[in-house]
Amino acid sequence: MAAPHSPRTDDWWRDAVIYQVYPRSFADGDGDGTGDLAGVRTRLPYLAELGVDALWFTPWYLSPLVDGGYDVADYRTIDPAFGTLGEAEKLIAEAHDLGIRTIIDIVPNHVSDQHSWFRAALEAGPGSPERERFHFRPGRGEHGELPPNDWPSQFSGRTWTRVPDGEWYLHLFTPEQPDLNWAHPAVRHEHEDVLRFWFERGVAGVRIDSAALLAKDPALADFEEGVDPHPYIDRDELHDIYRSWRAIADEYGAVFVGEVWLPDSERFARYLRPDELHTAFNFTFLACPWDPGRLRQAIDDTLAEHAPVGAPATWVLCNHDVTRTVTRYGREDTAFDFATKRFGTPTDLELGTRRARAAALLTLALPGSVYLYQGEELGLPEADIPLDRIQDPMFFRSGGTDPGRDGCRVPLPWSADAPYAGFGSRAEPWLPQPVDWPARAADRQRLDPASMLTLYREALRLRRTTAGFGDGPLRWLPSADGVLAFARSEHLMCVVNLSPAPVGLPAHTGVLLSSGPLDADGALPSDTAVWLRT
Ligand code: GLC
Repeated sequence: MAAPHSPRTDDWWRDAVIYQVYPRSFADGDGDGTGDLAGVRTRLPYLAELGVDALWFTPWYLSPLVDGGYDVADYRTIDPAFGTLGEAEKLIAEAHDLGIRTIIDIVPNHVSDQHSWFRAALEAGPGSPERERFHFRPGRGEHGELPPNDWPSQFSGRTWTRVPDGEWYLHLFTPEQPDLNWAHPAVRHEHEDVLRFWFERGVAGVRIDSAALLAKDPALADFEEGVDPHPYIDRDELHDIYRSWRAIADEYGAVFVGEVWLPDSERFARYLRPDELHTAFNFTFLACPWDPGRLRQAIDDTLAEHAPVGAPATWVLCNHDVTRTVTRYGREDTAFDFATKRFGTPTDLELGTRRARAAALLTLALPGSVYLYQGEELGLPEADIPLDRIQDPMFFRSGGTDPGRDGCRVPLPWSADAPYAGFGSRAEPWLPQPVDWPARAADRQRLDPASMLTLYREALRLRRTTAGFGDGPLRWLPSADGVLAFARSEHLMCVVNLSPAPVGLPAHTGVLLSSGPLDADGALPSDTAVWLRT
């Protein structure tokens, strides 16, 4: 087993490497085809050896799994498919003993339609206090046959569903995810209690799902392009909610990371004021194409928007919602956009992998914390899921034009020679694994000095042991066209060549790590990054 790297100070989150675990697809401990907490526990040594500081678990609570667990039926119960509360407590403690903190995922915008509150609301009928915890309304039209407003959905399709007694309820996502009414005190109280429940169990942080969507225009007025404030995105009421959450987190020394997709950087930064969220995901960087000018702009914008509030930036290349990095970078359009995802997009995986390796060194050299999504360290590509096996509601709600998000959620390959590439044992995994999964298995990559896993392990080790990485200043250096070069200290430099031809390296005293071999004359090839000692 790897030696534990000791948890750092209270400020650990300012430069942490956080590994996202999608429990359903990480490791299957009981062999039933679905990943579980027992599986995660057996793989903790792997995560310690990889060198991550924390794990973020996508929802592991009781759920009908209509939206992969983002439809929570009970926050205080682990879904039996994943394990028990006792196991979660053990997992948190075992990870802690290895120097790894635990971050959980809270989904405050909505609950599952199987949540006791929503079932009670359906039963109690129109006008009841039970319905006030959600957004129930009569319909429009002569017989109430039209939805109460025209709000567009976050997934394609309608945002209102009618119940048998004639009322409609609001759901920004699927009908199985009714939106909570955040103007209701019980909703606030319940979530504060849930936070305490998990902080008491040793959780070090919380990822807040759809963090900018909770508050709604009380009039539920129709959506009008350009009208400010938006009826349900980024409303001012949210900041009061997060201030009260922050006070609770401070009691436990815990931290937040918000899922805040907002194009306006000034509005984004408001969530990161000192008495609100500690951090938020950097989706500008995630969505940015593999283009030197655009990447530099994204990095500058990110640092500029964080600086006034004193919050550290986060850097993310992919997660459970978006196209996997090696696939995205191997396409003509290397940006990410939910609206343009299509089946059958031509992909050059070799090129994508080369760029993803360079992007890994770029990302890990930037100031702030970094999120890694399970399988990213194995260089897994987006998988093609046979149509009859797709489960993601994004596919169904788009009428089958959007392939959905299952392609980045395929169960991991652990051992090249074991059944199901070592994910589980008895039953076939819940999503089919591509035929070349065994060749990408962790046990094979572990022994291969040129593998993605070796690159990540080495990069994380150097990032942890070399002064200058993580939080702190970044200084751009003069560089040729298409090249990003910056210093993190007097002694540490990162150079990324996004131009089509090799470039000479600036003066240096040693190469710490490169994402691919340098040319014989020491030049940095195209789509390659290097960390230099200076
Ligand atoms: C977030 C999650 C996504 C989920 C949605 C609804 O965007 O990352 O997976 O479908 O919220 O909860």
